[in-house]
Parts: sequence; structure tokens; C-alpha cells
Amino acid sequence: MFKKVISSPIRWAGSKKKLLNEMLEKMFVRDKENYIECFLGSGVVLLNVLLNKEILGYKNFYVNDINSNIISFYLILKTDVDFLIGELEKLEKQYNDKSIEGKKIFYYDIRNKFNNLKKNDKMKPIYFYFLMRMGFNGVYRENRNGEFNVPFGKKDKFCFQRDGLKEISKLIQNVEFYNLDYKQFLYIIKSKCDLNKSFIYCDPPYVPEDMLVNQKQELYTNFTFDHEDFFNVINDINCGTTMISMADSVLATKIYNKYGFKKKNINQIIRIINPKKLFASKEIAYINYTIEDE
Ligand SMILES: C[S@@+](CC[C@H](N)C(=O)[O-])C[C@H]1O[C@@H](n2cnc3c(N)ncnc32)[C@H](O)[C@@H]1O
Repeated sequence: MFKKVISSPIRWAGSKKKLLNEMLEKMFVRDKENYIECFLGSGVVLLNVLLNKEILGYKNFYVNDINSNIISFYLILKTDVDFLIGELEKLEKQYNDKSIEGKKIFYYDIRNKFNNLKKNDKMKPIYFYFLMRMGFNGVYRENRNGEFNVPFGKKDKFCFQRDGLKEISKLIQNVEFYNLDYKQFLYIIKSKCDLNKSFIYCDPPYVPEDMLVNQKQELYTNFTFDHEDFFNVINDINCGTTMISMADSVLATKIYNKYGFKKKNINQIIRIINPKKLFASKEIAYINYTIEDE
């Protein structure tokens, strides 16, 4: 029996949480040696895979995201959970003691500090966690200069689960985290793992219905994402057993419905266009293997 779905510690609008039972039970291929995830996001898929690793049968875990804040957060959670909790406690006290106007000023002050810190500063993942929790809608969005620019979420309290963080820290001890473009990541993985003994899960940024509306691609970072390129890399490295999930669209069908990949329905999920606009989309997956309902 699969364990009850756990949440990611990172607040993340549009995560795969609601689809996890269906994905893990019906679509993830079991008994592969390596689990590989190219676009980690909140990490919720990885965490639930780890929770059910006996059933799924994976032994090694390699995950990646181009967003350095996500990876730094997981690295500090893995290597120094006490430091993380200690710093979050300080933020908790400072924020919760203030009036709503004071909270707003505090949020923008932290956002400013976060944007001015170097990538490898130990406080960066702490502030990232705080901003994702207290910002509007749990969205990660950057402006053209690469600065996090999500407005204040007007939340009354900042709180976090100490025990939950400690449990997740234990869960991820055996995971290798990478902060690379997916292409570099996949070529490194190919050189160290037998891809025939691997299950690769990809949840790339959303494919816009209308290619001309490029702003929609600015969803997660200030970079755009080329799905044609991505799919060519997947085929070029001969990925083996691969699942690619995304919101259904005419463009996605055009790009992904080839080279032996088949389209499968997953379910409905809420996707984000910008921090002020949430919308429901039909979630689908492209897979290059057979599942039971076929
Ligand atoms: C749809 S989200 C993943 C959501 C995740 N499955 C979840 O449930 O939380 C896509 C992720 O891809 C990452 N990303 C975007 N472009 C990338 C690239 N070129 N290489 C690696 N990661 C990338 C983004 O930072 C974002 O975290």
C-alpha cells in the first residue's frame, strides 16, 4: 500500500501534489535501480517517491533544477537542518511580533536582502523559504534582472513544521542534488548510470497554448524554455523509460506525440500563469512504455 501523500516543505503553487497517488501507483515504472528527476520544483514528487521507495524499488536518486534556490534549500535541509530551523525560528519571532504594516515592511526588507545576497550565501535558502511562504500565492517569479519580485502575501503568521523538516532531512540523505540546465544534467547522468536501469521523470515548465504569448513562459525564471530542444535531447540520449508530464495543449501534442511517446491523461490540476491568475488545466503525460490500462 502506498503511504499517504506528504507535502513539500516549500510552498509551491501548481505542484503535483494532487496527482501523486495516480502517478505513483499507475504510471511510475517499478524496480528500476535509478530514479532521475530533471525539473524538481517543490520536490513533492521526489519526497513521495522516497516515502514509497520499497514499493517502487528504486535505490539511487538523482534530481535537478535550474533554480539554485530550490537546490540550496534542499542541500541545507540535507546537511544542516538544525541551522535551518534555528534561522527560521528567528524569522518567525521577528515577523509574528509585528503589526500588519510592520509585516509588510519586513517582507520587502527580506526580499531586498535575498536579492542582494550571493548565490552561495548560507542565508539565501532561508530567505527563499520565508519568501515562498509569505509571498503572494506561493509563486516563484523573477524580473528581467533575475530578482525575485513576488509581492507581499498579507499573511498574519509565519510558521513552519520543525518535526516535518527533520523527517524530510532524514528522507533525502541518499539523494544527489544538481543545479544545472537539464541538458548538462542528463549528459552527466548518462555518463554515471545505466539508463536502461533508470526511470526518468520530467515535469518541464508549462507549454503555452499560444506560442506568441511568450510572457507565459516567464513562469518560473526569466529564461524561456524550448520544448522542441528538450524533446530532442530526450531522444538524443536515448533516455530509456521516461515520463514527461505537463498541461495539455495543441502545441504540446505537436511536439511530444512522436518517437514512440504516447499521450496519457492524468487529471486536473491548478496551474499558474502569473501570481495574480490561477487557472485549471488538464494534466497529461507522455510516456514511452506501456502501463496496465492499455
Ligand atoms: C513545472 S515545475 C516542476 C514542478 C514540480 N514537479 C512540483 O510538483 O513541484 C518546472 C521546474 O523546471 C525548472 N526549470 C526550468 N527550466 C529549466 C532547465 N532548463 N533546466 C532545469 N530545470 C529547469 C524550474 O525552475 C521549475 O522548478
